[in-house]
Amino acid sequence: MSLIKLIDFRTFSDPRGTLAVIEGSLDVPFEIRRVYYLYGLSGDLQRGFHAHHELEQIAICLNGSCSLLLDDGRRKETLRLSSPHQGLRIERMVWHEMFEFSPDCVLMVLASEHYDEADYIRDYQQFLAEVENAAGP
Ligand code: TYD
Repeated sequence: MSLIKLIDFRTFSDPRGTLAVIEGSLDVPFEIRRVYYLYGLSGDLQRGFHAHHELEQIAICLNGSCSLLLDDGRRKETLRLSSPHQGLRIERMVWHEMFEFSPDCVLMVLASEHYDEADYIRDYQQFLAEVENAAGP
C-alpha cells in the first residue's frame, strides 16, 4: 500500500469563490489539538527531517506548492502538494522531509496532539532502529 494517503476535503464553490471544510474526527481521522503553518519559506532550504512516535498529522498546502518525502523505514515516496482542498496524512513513525517550496507556499499542518519535543525522533539512524525493533525478530 502506498505511503501517500490523500484526503479530499469538502468544498462549496459558487461565483464568490470556494469554501473548503475540515471538521476534526469527521474529515480527518483524529481530533485536532493543534494547527501550525509554515510561510516565508525558502525554495532552496529543507524542513522536517524527523518522525513522531505517536503524533498523527495532515499537511495541506493552502497556497503555492511544495514537495514532501515520506519514508516508513522500508520505502520512500515523494509527492508535490499544490491543492488547497487536499490533505496529506503523515502518520506516526513516518520520517518526513519538506523541500522545493514555491515562494508563495503556505503549508498548514493539523496535528492530533499538542507540541511535545519528546515525541520527536530527529535522528534517522535511531528512526530506522525503532522501525526494526517494532517489526520484531
Ligand atoms: P522544527 O521542528 O525545526 O520545524 P520543521 O519540522 O518545519 O523543520 O520547529 C521549528 C521551531 O518551532 C522549533 O523551535 C520548535 C518550534 N515548534 C513549536 O514550538 N510548536 C510547534 O507546534 C512546532 C511544530 C514547532
